[in-house]
Amino acid sequence: MPRKIVVTGGTGYIGSHTAVELINRGFNVIIADDLSNSDTGVLEGIEKITGIKPGFKKIDLCSKKDTASFFSGLDRIDAVVHFAAFKSVAESVEKPLDYYRNNLNSLINVIDQMVLQGIPNLVFSSSCTVYGQPDILPVTEKSPVKKALSPYGNTKRVCEEIIEDVSVSGESLKSVVLRYFNPIGNHPGALIGELPRGKPNNLVPVITRTAIGKYDELKVFGNDYGTPDGTCIRDYINVTDLARAHVAAIDRLVSGKNENCVEVYNVGTGKGISVLELLKAFEKAAKVSINYSFADRRPGDIEKIWADPSLANKKLNWKATTNLEETLASAWEWTLNCREKGIL
Ligand code: WQD
Repeated sequence: MPRKIVVTGGTGYIGSHTAVELINRGFNVIIADDLSNSDTGVLEGIEKITGIKPGFKKIDLCSKKDTASFFSGLDRIDAVVHFAAFKSVAESVEKPLDYYRNNLNSLINVIDQMVLQGIPNLVFSSSCTVYGQPDILPVTEKSPVKKALSPYGNTKRVCEEIIEDVSVSGESLKSVVLRYFNPIGNHPGALIGELPRGKPNNLVPVITRTAIGKYDELKVFGNDYGTPDGTCIRDYINVTDLARAHVAAIDRLVSGKNENCVEVYNVGTGKGISVLELLKAFEKAAKVSINYSFADRRPGDIEKIWADPSLANKKLNWKATTNLEETLASAWEWTLNCREKGIL
């Protein structure tokens, strides 16, 4: 019998890529998503890639009643991968209560049902934002967790604490918390990809939209940082590599290899890239040139961060393998495909 995995937020960007990798590995995937930032077309994309259409339920996990009825209707679930959450840093500053209400309630309702139904394994989607601006680089999982610079980041920190507290309380929940660095790129073939509703804030979607002429230029936020070229440094990770880290986490949990009730892993490449370096790499990968100008620093941006992923390399037997150029080419292919279909 294939193992059954519930993927909340599974029609979203990282969720859909993870659903693909789980299906490719023989797992039976059931997606729960409220479609607030995605649509059911993603399910067709997943089916085209894998040959299998995942189970799907449109559901608002902030409703305790609906979450209960969803989980009680399922038979023998092995694990939940919980992605469902609001994710815009900027929006979270404008609407903090929406972010706390949504991101905390959905996690609480999901864990409640996992405990009630005896579902033992949870993989939680967290973020490197929990480190704030680290004093020492690269960051390890032992680096201090700092007060987040945004309500979004704070919801991730509090969610991690909720998971930790539930484990301490004696519930038989085993969790892997994955702290993502900056996911970019799309599944090769452009059948699923990143499609933020409204104006994107993240660097790669802004670059690709500038490249197709939707924006006149890219504004590079700040060129006076204490970095070699003055622009911010991040650890950009291919989304399929990131998705595979979830499969590795599931493998570790279901095979009982985890050493602690809650394990935390950095999921990054270990390499820091500046905004200008990323821009140049994109121009090379896509064979286009991008107009850009320097603008003021973006409030809340940290100067530099990149991961020490060695714990995940060792314990999850996972490593980021896709190179930056290939990843950026996949982002470009997806953008061209969306433009051809009139979505962009
Ligand atoms: C990257 C760099 C910008 C847009 C993201 C997620 C956050 C978390 C961590 C998961 C920064 C610069 C951007 C533009 C620019 N991930 N930039 N011009 O801020 O690191 O945060 O990763 O939880 O949720 O949002 O990523 O892509 O917004 O910015 O110069 O138009 O690109 O200033 O230095 P960030 P980003």
